[in-house]
Amino acid sequence: MVLMTEMVSEKVVEFMRELLPERTGFLQQLEKECQDEYIPLVEPEVGQFLQVMVKARGACRILEIGTGIGYSAILLAEAFRDSGGHLTTIEIDQDRYVRACRNFCEAGVSDLITALHGDANQIIPELCGSFDLIFMDAAKGQYPEFFARLWPLLERGGVLLIDNIFLNGWVIDMSWPERRKKTMVVRMRELLDTLKAHPDLITSVIPLGDGLAVSVRR
Ligand SMILES: C[S@@+](CC[C@H](N)C(=O)[O-])C[C@H]1O[C@@H](n2cnc3c(N)ncnc32)[C@H](O)[C@@H]1O
Repeated sequence: MVLMTEMVSEKVVEFMRELLPERTGFLQQLEKECQDEYIPLVEPEVGQFLQVMVKARGACRILEIGTGIGYSAILLAEAFRDSGGHLTTIEIDQDRYVRACRNFCEAGVSDLITALHGDANQIIPELCGSFDLIFMDAAKGQYPEFFARLWPLLERGGVLLIDNIFLNGWVIDMSWPERRKKTMVVRMRELLDTLKAHPDLITSVIPLGDGLAVSVRR
């Protein structure tokens, strides 16, 4: 597994990973598939944290933006399957959406997940009801739009998790490897400032993976 960040020393990341339960069977196969085909997925320690948050909150109505081929969705489903929860997950890419649906069947969680295909910006306004846990893990440049649409859907006491907020450390240094990344970095920084000042959310930023923002609605 590639270490995604230089923010936390390799030694610490390796140690944290040693303390994770060993992933076997289908999840391990999915990790390998993603690695071989350069398909993005959550870091293992972020995946574990998602499961901890589901359990701690007792989350039952969960929304994910950015399904990929379903790795994080399967982890979420495994965490809430005993408590009667349900996950709605949105993916824009047709091929990944189809693969995710197949993977949900293979993992035995398809009855716990509603997978939607399309642009989250268009689908979110059509969703019914509220959610007690929302996981944002899609196009980083669109995070401010996702956030504006998503936070009103969060229940009081609900948890919003936003992945990759460090953007490889560019957001910390406010630097970008190429000019076309500048807008994404600037917008991510603005989103973090919005979270900091938000009257309805309390937020903690943690250096897991490529940075995770954890917000709770007051
Ligand atoms: C980092 S990957 C998700 C990985 C997944 N959460 C996991 O850990 O297994 C981000 C995904 O978001 C999808 N995506 C990007 N923009 C999107 C949008 N506007 N609406 C829905 N999905 C989007 C991409 O196609 C990509 O598959």
